[in-house]
Amino acid sequence: MDLEAEFERTVAAGQRVEPRDWMPDGYRKTLIRQIAQHAHSEIIGMQPEGNWISRAPSLRRKAILLAKVQDEAGHGLYLYAATETLGADRGDLTEKLVSGRQKYSSIFNYPTLSYADVGVIGWLVDGAAICNQVPLCRTSYGPYARAMIRICKEESFHQRQGYELLMTMMGGTDAQRAMVQESVDRFWWPSLMMFGPPDAESANTERSMAWRIKRNTNDELRQKFVDMTVPQAEKLGVTLPDPALKWNPERGHHDFGQPDWDEFWQVVGGNGPANKQRVEHRRRAHEDGEWVRAAAEAHAAKRAVREDVA
Ligand SMILES: [Fe+2]
Ligand SMILES: [Fe+2]
Repeated sequence: MDLEAEFERTVAAGQRVEPRDWMPDGYRKTLIRQIAQHAHSEIIGMQPEGNWISRAPSLRRKAILLAKVQDEAGHGLYLYAATETLGADRGDLTEKLVSGRQKYSSIFNYPTLSYADVGVIGWLVDGAAICNQVPLCRTSYGPYARAMIRICKEESFHQRQGYELLMTMMGGTDAQRAMVQESVDRFWWPSLMMFGPPDAESANTERSMAWRIKRNTNDELRQKFVDMTVPQAEKLGVTLPDPALKWNPERGHHDFGQPDWDEFWQVVGGNGPANKQRVEHRRRAHEDGEWVRAAAEAHAAKRAVREDVA
């Protein structure tokens, strides 16, 4: 009872819960699920953009894209490491991902059809990720909050590189401008879906807010993203494909339309355009990496023996 009171006090005071502290089972399980889902998203998110590394239009674009995709791998690693502080096993989480028992962000189940998608993903998808993740720098679980601080710094670079790429294309030919607009048309609604279902339908929001794992609701974050993105779209010279989008002076926010939530649930349920391909690719990469893991373990075992002798 004392432990529980201490936990409640820590969370209510806005302090951090650390791995050595007692925590309720539900808190631990919720965190493992959320952080694992987040880690899987970083790793699966390497695929849509990785698709364009070999076809980058210049050495400079290739270097930027390579760096970005490698950052995402690093984000996955920080986050898997954070789940391990809660007693989760990384191998087990990967198994859950490749067998479809754990999810990742719905956005990565959409294909990347042109190089403009690299820019639009940086601008909109990493932009939405920033809105979601900045409040997580103050989440109640210490290792998660600290991982998020590092990740957010890199996400700002991701967003800027995307926006800069799009600015360059918009200053190019009519065909390039059309390519950017076409990509924005495809990615706008799926980007809004990244914040999850409307608050009224979000099963976990209330509990997560009470535990201060989550700091803002899905709808609050979606609004923040729209307000942040509209002036950027104007500056870029693209049209966001939503006829309902307009400034509401009374609310001091933009009004906007609802994404197609049936499509969202289809994608979350495994039936998006690229779900099977993404998971299959991840499974193959995991299997192909078996010998690397075996070699690393053998090396560590040998070294342990050597250090014992010395
Ligand atoms: Fe990331
Ligand atoms: Fe990113």
